[in-house]
Amino acid sequence: MKRAVYPGSFDPVTFGHLDVIRRASEMFDVLVVSVLNNKVKSPLFSVEERVKILKEATKEIPNVQVDSFSGLLINYAADHNMHVAVRGLRAITDFEYELQIAQTNRKLSKGALDTVFLTTSLEYAYLSSSSVKEIASFGGDISECVPEFVAKLMKEKYRASVL
Ligand code: PNS
Repeated sequence: MKRAVYPGSFDPVTFGHLDVIRRASEMFDVLVVSVLNNKVKSPLFSVEERVKILKEATKEIPNVQVDSFSGLLINYAADHNMHVAVRGLRAITDFEYELQIAQTNRKLSKGALDTVFLTTSLEYAYLSSSSVKEIASFGGDISECVPEFVAKLMKEKYRASVL
């Protein structure tokens, strides 16, 4: 059984991520979308909230599982019998960062973890979780960036932060 991991911050998941998830789910028997528990960043949504959001957003795709992890991706992948990491590439600006991570993971894992890149569909190439958060924080329209229930949750977060 071919299992792959799609790691990321997903704070929050966007239509760009969901496009990658849907396409990658057709390439592997199981795709585990896993939220990095990164103690350094201060996220909008907690890891538990992001896992819940991802579960809801992917509930129609039967071979997608949602999880979270801490520490090195290579250790998490080895522990869960996953030998491929999936990442989305939006533009050339992503490339250097992604290449470095992919090569580091391959080296550190002694070839056990390889990375497959999916180029983001053109209509989502401009999207990033950070820009979606910035737009939402100023009350802008994010209906074309994230699912409706996510937009609602973001609005609630920002409303609560000004009260
Ligand atoms: O969505 P992001 O924040 O761009 O995802 C980055 C992620 C989670 C893929 C990357 O930071 C990661 O895998 N971190 C786990 C720690 C690790 O394994 N680091 C070694 C590679 S440099």
